[in-house]
Amino acid sequence: TESNPIRATLFPGDGIGPEIAESVKQVFRAADVPIEWEEHYVGKEIDPRTQSFLTWESLESVRRNKVGLKGPMATPIGKGHRSLNLTLRKELNLYANVRPCYSLPGYKTRYDDVDLVTIRENTEGEYSGLEHQVVRGVVESLKIITRQASLRVAEYAFHYAMAHGRERVSAIHKANIMQKTDGLFLKCCREVAEKYPEITYEEVVIDNCCMMLVKNPALFDVLVMPNLYGDIISDLCAGLIGGLGLTPSCNIGEGGIALAEAVHGSAPDIAGKNMANPTALLLSSVTMLRHLELHDKADRIQEAILKTIAEGKYRTGDLGGTSTTTEFTKAICDKL
Ligand code: NAI
Ligand code: MG
Repeated sequence: TESNPIRATLFPGDGIGPEIAESVKQVFRAADVPIEWEEHYVGKEIDPRTQSFLTWESLESVRRNKVGLKGPMATPIGKGHRSLNLTLRKELNLYANVRPCYSLPGYKTRYDDVDLVTIRENTEGEYSGLEHQVVRGVVESLKIITRQASLRVAEYAFHYAMAHGRERVSAIHKANIMQKTDGLFLKCCREVAEKYPEITYEEVVIDNCCMMLVKNPALFDVLVMPNLYGDIISDLCAGLIGGLGLTPSCNIGEGGIALAEAVHGSAPDIAGKNMANPTALLLSSVTMLRHLELHDKADRIQEAILKTIAEGKYRTGDLGGTSTTTEFTKAICDKL
């Protein structure tokens, strides 16, 4: 209820993270969202309990609150610790990453009819963190695909399609070459598809999928795929509608955890310059509100964001405008 604030975890993250997290805080204030943020920062030292710069307390905060919003986290390379994002995904068992992507009214790109959702397996595949040197000059990386994780993400994709009135699920793969790994992934998708006769199921090889997405993205509805493919395809999809400044996502974890985040990274090239487009993180925060069933607030905020972009007076540089992050944010708040 309105009188009891809901506690949610906030990781402002690195690079442009704190700037766009500030936008979310301002917009939530303007819309009177009954959320109290529990802010956690990336630590300065490795926490032995997480083997990364993420503190145990910050993980506990998400486990306790079950909802949160995270900014991008850059990982310093080659220091003998786990990636922050991998740590979060593994420790919190964030098994599916849902990435909706739709043409924004009033913002013209080559297409005006993109409306698809990428569902990315989020815990294994090439991102299992199992890489080592075999001998000098030869390195090895293990791609792990399990029946359990594949069934779980496929189940989520079909469940999502049903719940959101979607008609088709496409499993994206390279099983012609990766016969064992992607073969198992497909087998699991097929098994789940049988339980959902209302949903059309198809299998598309990833290279062909890229070509079709660029040529006619309206062919796709819900796409489900292993980790690495999901990472790549979702940036491609962002490009179809205007770029990474626009596309949100939500990580779904076991036990009802939802940790929303933008698809993009910390954008070091524009960090600290008040230039970042906060739309991706704002729309991510909207998915968090929907998870909390705060649909009125979610609708109002989403409408204010989309209207501001459609009107075109205030747009950030990535969309061809001249507004700063703060000016764009203020324009949204004024609508609220
Ligand atoms: P990136 O997504 O940070 O940036 C790619 C390009 O898109 C850059 O030109 C950037 O300026 C632009 N861009 C991204 N977000 C934008 C926004 N909101 N508004 C306007 N322009 C935006 O990818 P990059 O440069 O490859 O990665 C930078 C760092 O972020 C790396 O350390 C990477 O590991 C990390 N990363 C973290 C992610 C996460 O926390 N989930 C996801 C992707 C990358
Ligand atoms: Mg990515």
